[in-house]
Amino acid sequence: MNHTLTRPNESLVSSSLLEQLSSAGQQHLLRFWGELSDDSRRELVQQLSCVDWDQIGKLAESKSSSQASCAVTRPVPPNRVVRTVRTSQERDQHDIARALGAEVLSAGRVAVILVAGGQGTRLGFPQPKGMYPIGPVTGKSLFQVLAEKVVATSHRYQTTIPYLVMTSDSTHEATVKWFAENGYFGLDPVDVYFFQQGCLPVVDSQTGKILLADKGRVCMSADGHGGVLSAIKRAGLFEELRSRGVDFLFYHQVDNPLVRVCDPAFLGYHVLHESEASTKVVAKRAATEKVGVLVEIDGRTEIIEYSDLPADLSSACNADGSLQFWAGNTAIHIFNRSFLEFVAAEGGELPWHAAQKKTPFVDDRGQLVQPSYENGLKFERFIFDALPLADHALIVETERAEEFAPLKGQEGESSPASVKRCMVEGAIEWLKAAGLQVPNGVPIEISPLAALGPDDLIGLPADELRSELPVYIAAKTDVNYFEVPPSVEQAYPRTVPR
Ligand code: UTP
Repeated sequence: MNHTLTRPNESLVSSSLLEQLSSAGQQHLLRFWGELSDDSRRELVQQLSCVDWDQIGKLAESKSSSQASCAVTRPVPPNRVVRTVRTSQERDQHDIARALGAEVLSAGRVAVILVAGGQGTRLGFPQPKGMYPIGPVTGKSLFQVLAEKVVATSHRYQTTIPYLVMTSDSTHEATVKWFAENGYFGLDPVDVYFFQQGCLPVVDSQTGKILLADKGRVCMSADGHGGVLSAIKRAGLFEELRSRGVDFLFYHQVDNPLVRVCDPAFLGYHVLHESEASTKVVAKRAATEKVGVLVEIDGRTEIIEYSDLPADLSSACNADGSLQFWAGNTAIHIFNRSFLEFVAAEGGELPWHAAQKKTPFVDDRGQLVQPSYENGLKFERFIFDALPLADHALIVETERAEEFAPLKGQEGESSPASVKRCMVEGAIEWLKAAGLQVPNGVPIEISPLAALGPDDLIGLPADELRSELPVYIAAKTDVNYFEVPPSVEQAYPRTVPR
């Protein structure tokens, strides 16, 4: 087919941009220039001016610069691991760690990073995933559940906890609005820092040509949760954290409402072991579970994708039948601020990974195509690739039921129904541990403002719990941010106040 390339209006397109497009073999991006309004032309030029042409060229050529380390050296099971408490000695260690974690929290040395820039394509929710109404009784959003954990932790340790929320082009506006409209869920706005991650063009997986989302817009995609390092650096947040005396960063993802934000025991182990990068793991359910796996390669702790672990290794067992590579990634990490600064100073030198995605695009004739196969390559960095850069890394095991239930898709194990079930089961376990009789078969939700663990539930009026209605355990300070129902107390009269 013949294409007539309209000569772009040179007052809008600089000659250096034209040269860059031409030497990158991406002139087709201006194919529809003649049909665009001046505003659309400006927007397109603006988009193109932000592209790092050298980088995208290299990535498209190599498809991924990431090193599949296990292809070079055989991984071995990790050995610097704190397993879940089984003995009284381990209980003592745990108590020591928890006390130390409490100290660093009280001293204001901890900040939280929440990554919420993902597009949540599998879930198919039209808003940022953090706005998903996950509360099994209240319909609280993921953002609210997570933010309230930070509020409650700040109160508990009488401190302020800077809350760094990473967004992307596709989630920024709605996220900032959601927090503002909901009174920041009780956080002080001066402690909340929204910052945006970078994005890269999506290329055609066959030709390496950048795809157009429409005639005047390039297909862009966020640069992965590993983009958090350069985004923090770009936003000047390392300096801010330093000036606030923050030494440790608790990192977690927006999709896991069970996460124990700023878990003092985890912080304490991190400090005790002089770790620079620590990660929480859960025992894999089976060799075939699709979860990243903790390994050691050349003495360095790494997380590798399940698909990168050779089958003979993923199914290898110890004499007692347990998996050798048992430790599954939960994406809950603690980093020293100085360590992340070091990694980010190296230009955010985390490797790139390429993922094939179905990407709608505009074809040569200007028609929008909804592809039936993974036609596009998007490039991402993963935060866990920072782990092997640490001289001292630590792995801390936790129980899956207590801390890991990520919301990923519409069906199956990581669906809304399943995550809500895990939240209810978790609440029941806490109530039982607090010595309370639990009503059978009704949804139960515990506000983070009421309890951060079972100990906080001791002394609840037990008879209030014998309800056939959904139970919401609210704190006295709990504010109703809910749109539906407008008042939890009205909708659920058996709410148990603290
Ligand atoms: P996932 O890799 O599960 O992606 O993100 P996702 O966007 O939530 O869902 P899919 O894959 O499109 O269905 C894990 C965490 O990393 C964040 C997400 O917001 C989530 O908290 N993330 C992911 C980012 O912040 N930025 C990214 O570029 C990618």
